[in-house]
Amino acid sequence: MIATQDVHAEYGGVVPELASRAHLQNIIPVLNAALAQAKIKMEDIDAIGYTNGPGLMGALLVGSSFAKGLALGNAKPLIEVNHMKAHILAHFIEDNTSIPDFPFICLTVSGGHTQLVRLKDYYTFEIMGSTIDDAAGEAFDKAAKMLGLPYPGGPLIDKYAKEGDENAFIFNAGKLEKYNYSFSGLKTGILYFLRKEVAKDPDFIKKNLNNLCASIQKAILDSLFYQLERLVEDTGIKRVAVAGGVSANSGLRKRLAEKKDWETYIPKFEYCTDNGAMIAISAYFDFIKDKQGKLSAIPNPRMKI
Ligand code: KG4
Ligand code: ZN
Repeated sequence: MIATQDVHAEYGGVVPELASRAHLQNIIPVLNAALAQAKIKMEDIDAIGYTNGPGLMGALLVGSSFAKGLALGNAKPLIEVNHMKAHILAHFIEDNTSIPDFPFICLTVSGGHTQLVRLKDYYTFEIMGSTIDDAAGEAFDKAAKMLGLPYPGGPLIDKYAKEGDENAFIFNAGKLEKYNYSFSGLKTGILYFLRKEVAKDPDFIKKNLNNLCASIQKAILDSLFYQLERLVEDTGIKRVAVAGGVSANSGLRKRLAEKKDWETYIPKFEYCTDNGAMIAISAYFDFIKDKQGKLSAIPNPRMKI
């Protein structure tokens, strides 16, 4: 059960205070709806898993306080979950079409993170590379904003890109040392290019929306795959998974499907963007090892994998 927040579209991005207020309003109805839909009661639940970071502090505080109250009130074990690990562990939700064996490499691409992670087992995550500035999802969203599209713009760029020519315009994300990413230069490149073109023709964006989206998407995917390919080559690990909101991108999914000499894994579409099931499966792996969290735990907005 997922509550999606519409409040952010109006402001062109996530407003932290509005996000935490929306969490507060939604959290009890979402729990009740999830229990009703699963036809279970609180007594049937083994443990309470909750996100303790990374994320926005206000939203984390709402979730962690609620989870602690729920665990205490119902005498259930409480389990802390790392949001980015949970995106990766979403691969192990049983109704995915295929589930990776270990070791595998995961390209984790969300609105706040871009990481290349090597997994040895359910509990051992090694960060091989990450972004030094904007995340891939952020690059999609910021580019979309410059095109006048509402937040979150990633899915819209994906949609318009399908109708466009990805070679119509040339955009580039910088190429960094192994295996890191940078997307802030791309953002500036798009901004200057649009300024120049709109000065010549105020309708430039409207007339070229599909081609712009396709070309921007290509630049982001080129960068993501450049480092991913190097990592696969260097490690010899050809088992490759993707996780996080941007893994919902159809261009990314297509490129991955074209990698015939890799074993590729993409979670079911609904497990790519933020969802409760990924938090539950992560909590499950700790639960079976009896790794319980503490009521005194403080959310960490910058929690590392
Ligand atoms: O993982 P997620 O749902 O939330 C975070 O943890 O950040 O990722 C959200 C990000 C947003 O930047 C959104 O624009 C992007 O994922 N996104 C997409 C697509 N669907 C979601 N980006 C490109 N194409 C998509 N289809
Ligand atoms: Zn996420």
